[in-house]
Amino acid sequence: MSEFAKLWAEIAPIGRAGSGGYLRFALTEPELTLRDWFRAQAALRDMTVTDDGNGNLFAWRGEPWAPGTVLTGSHFDSVPHGGGYDGPLGIVSAFLAVDRVPRDRRIGIAAFVEEEGGRFGVPCLGSRLLTGVIDPDRAAALTDRDGISFGAALGARPAGARKEIGQIAAVVELHIEQGRALETPVGVASAIWPHGRWRMDFTGIGDHAGTTRMTDRHDPMLTFAHTVLTADQEARLAGAHATMGRVQVEPNATNAIPSLVRGWLDARAADTATLDRLVGSVVEKATERAARDGTTLAMTAESVSGEVAFDTALAERLSALLKDAPILPTGAGHDAGVLSAHVPTAMLFVRNPTGVSHSPAEHASDDDCEAGIEALATVLEELT
Ligand code: GLV
Ligand code: MN
Ligand code: MN
Ligand code: MN
Repeated sequence: MSEFAKLWAEIAPIGRAGSGGYLRFALTEPELTLRDWFRAQAALRDMTVTDDGNGNLFAWRGEPWAPGTVLTGSHFDSVPHGGGYDGPLGIVSAFLAVDRVPRDRRIGIAAFVEEEGGRFGVPCLGSRLLTGVIDPDRAAALTDRDGISFGAALGARPAGARKEIGQIAAVVELHIEQGRALETPVGVASAIWPHGRWRMDFTGIGDHAGTTRMTDRHDPMLTFAHTVLTADQEARLAGAHATMGRVQVEPNATNAIPSLVRGWLDARAADTATLDRLVGSVVEKATERAARDGTTLAMTAESVSGEVAFDTALAERLSALLKDAPILPTGAGHDAGVLSAHVPTAMLFVRNPTGVSHSPAEHASDDDCEAGIEALATVLEELT
């Protein structure tokens, strides 16, 4: 069994659901168990563990935040029934890469909290707090589906921006590739598409399914259904991506016209102008349809992430170092994208044979993960 397979087997059962996917939500029991595992791995390597008061955990070889340190790592949390590689691969690889780099090098390994926004709604919450992109009070007030706030789950008001991030020499996040774009074991990221999440509240009038004439209805489900189809059509026309993968219905009864349908739009495009046009046209068409259905639409932007262009010189340097590894963009968000506005940042991707992600079917071969670890070690040695 390879070193990777051994370590991977330690965390594979943690938070695995009957679906084969993972329920590893930030600061819930499985994620806290993974944090204990993180501390144990750090202790095995005589690395110092700190947290930043925002829920992000760090293991340091050398003094915490020492100038010139290179930061690597990723996140433990998953989307509902997500794959096991998205996030944890970057942390497991980081520990194994550190083992292959001379001991005098200054390296930090991060486990960022709530990267997926799967519990509190805002993705990359930990890296946004660390870099001051989100106000700590706003973050503290975010609630999960049971009404528990991030502040309560953390047990404190988040500390917010840490100026020490400015002392970090570079960030390198290793991640499973999540599209169908990488045909070699390892690639280097060039950019992240701008993207965002918008909550759309369609309000109508709840009523009896059997007695309400079709002409008397104010059914928000119709407005919502029309909006799902519009988002799909507009995204296809724009060469962009739009998804409405989460919905809540009130009262959610077979024999009642809903009073409220709340849907979340996830939209992404290669550039900001296309994204803005896409979202604008979905809203315009949804509003027109609401007028026809006698319903109303209220829209809230829950998070918007601008376009990320990773440091081109760094990406080219790493690609050359890794025997001309391909350089490719991605439509997935990452903490590295948030950090890239503050620190020279790069990402390494590990091949995903089917490209499926945010699903139990997500997979990378042990050999490719091993190649990723070797590449990360090479890069850490080069940059420290
Ligand atoms: C996170 O993985 C995202 O891009 O949604
Ligand atoms: Mn993800
Ligand atoms: Mn991820
Ligand atoms: Mn992500």
